[in-house]
Amino acid sequence: MYKYSLDNKRYHTLNYHYFSIFNSKVSKISLNGGFTCPNRDGKVAVGGCIYCSKDASGDYAGNVNDDIKDQFENIKKIIDKKWNTNKYIAYFQAGTNTYADINKLKDLYEKALSIPNVVGLSIATRPDSIEDNVLEYLIEINKRTYLTIELGLQTIHEKTSQLINRGHDLKCFIDCVNKLRKHNINVVVHIINGLPYETKDMMIDTVKFLNTMDIQGIKIHMLHVLKNTELEKMYNKEKFKILSLKEYVSIVCDQLEYLKDNIVIHRITGDPKEEDLIEPLWLTKKFSVLNEIDKEMEIRGTYQGFNKTILNRFDLIINKLLKNNDIVVDATIGNGKDTLKLANIVTKGFVFGFDIQKEALKNTKKLLKDNNITNYKLFNISHEYIFNKLMNYENKISLIIFNLGYLPNGDKSIITNHITTLKAIDESIKLLNNKGSILIIVYPHKEGKKEGRLIKKKYKCKTFRNTDNINAPYLIEIKK
Ligand SMILES: C[S@@+](CC[C@H](N)C(=O)[O-])C[C@H]1O[C@@H](n2cnc3c(N)ncnc32)[C@H](O)[C@@H]1O
Repeated sequence: MYKYSLDNKRYHTLNYHYFSIFNSKVSKISLNGGFTCPNRDGKVAVGGCIYCSKDASGDYAGNVNDDIKDQFENIKKIIDKKWNTNKYIAYFQAGTNTYADINKLKDLYEKALSIPNVVGLSIATRPDSIEDNVLEYLIEINKRTYLTIELGLQTIHEKTSQLINRGHDLKCFIDCVNKLRKHNINVVVHIINGLPYETKDMMIDTVKFLNTMDIQGIKIHMLHVLKNTELEKMYNKEKFKILSLKEYVSIVCDQLEYLKDNIVIHRITGDPKEEDLIEPLWLTKKFSVLNEIDKEMEIRGTYQGFNKTILNRFDLIINKLLKNNDIVVDATIGNGKDTLKLANIVTKGFVFGFDIQKEALKNTKKLLKDNNITNYKLFNISHEYIFNKLMNYENKISLIIFNLGYLPNGDKSIITNHITTLKAIDESIKLLNNKGSILIIVYPHKEGKKEGRLIKKKYKCKTFRNTDNINAPYLIEIKK
């Protein structure tokens, strides 16, 4: 099970997060403090963000005409029927919840904090709407309660941001996050998938960017086209593309694979009121969206943070491919880490290993011995002679791995090179059985670049990358 989930999810759930802090389930109670928004009242703009509902994104919050304590009690009654908990976070949801006179803020927040069993405060706001005196007050509250500021970003792309009339740019968001983090205040960022004219890559880029920021959580929404919004008018006129459920699921799963695993997922789909929704209609079935995401992650075998290292893909492939009685080869044993990994899978099979350095054999033997591995044989010879050594295993080997480059912590002048690597791959193919694969980790230093380029040119293969960084190692798979 994924380490940051209590219920078989493959991402860092809010439930897990609250449990880890409060040792119990915690429910969020959505409140309406009667806030407006600087993007509506003319301070920044009028009209607001083009997708925003008349309730200013507080559709499930309490009744604005009720006192905060009454709102809290009314919603708590409903929540308590669903969940067995006695810890709550008061969530100021509707409008821009730091956009008011400091005395009004103090009155509302303190009222909420004085309610029994309220263990924290979540405040949804805009990155352009935390004045210095408000920040000072937030810093003070943060010392005595569990405070989270939820910031709307929606997208990192300025063109989209202007199209949806956000009224602030990316820099404003970055400055605000830095300001809050300087005082250790938790930041949760809201983003929207499916904004008009955004491509899948653009949506993934938003998440890749957020990975570079010090944020603690994220809410991922699907764009709602709601009745009586500017977005509805735009949609009727331009009929921009609305993501299908399948597309949304695929994008979210890609985003999760990129997202750092310490970032808590507060939300992973939208939850619009059915009577207000124009598109997409599949959004009304919240649980089926959540299930589809779970299913897709399971089919992929991936999880949040999967793309942190290419070795996760390497592990996924070998774990899917190998049975415990398979015969496998580590063509570059080095310090033996991969040899051990293979041996731990093929417990009833056999592992062969090759390396030109005596030191590599010595290190690997020790590691295998320390782990009680006996089903192996190592050759102190170049892998270009692999067929010569293993000809009795023609068509019998399930996996041959090459971890190219130099021995970690060893002599950096002894590295694999394109001539012997290509010869070894040629020879290896003959050894593979029908399901067999060759997996090659390529390090793009000078010689590695050449090896990678020539392998890709010569063989029908699949390349896996976990990052846009062209200097990062990547994986090549060649199938028989
Ligand atoms: C990146 S290291 C392998 C790391 C190893 N998988 C581990 O877990 O430590 C590459 C290894 O390939 C070896 N090597 C270089 N040229 C070789 C060749 N022609 N045949 C076999 N091994 C070679 C190097 O000695 C080095 O130990």
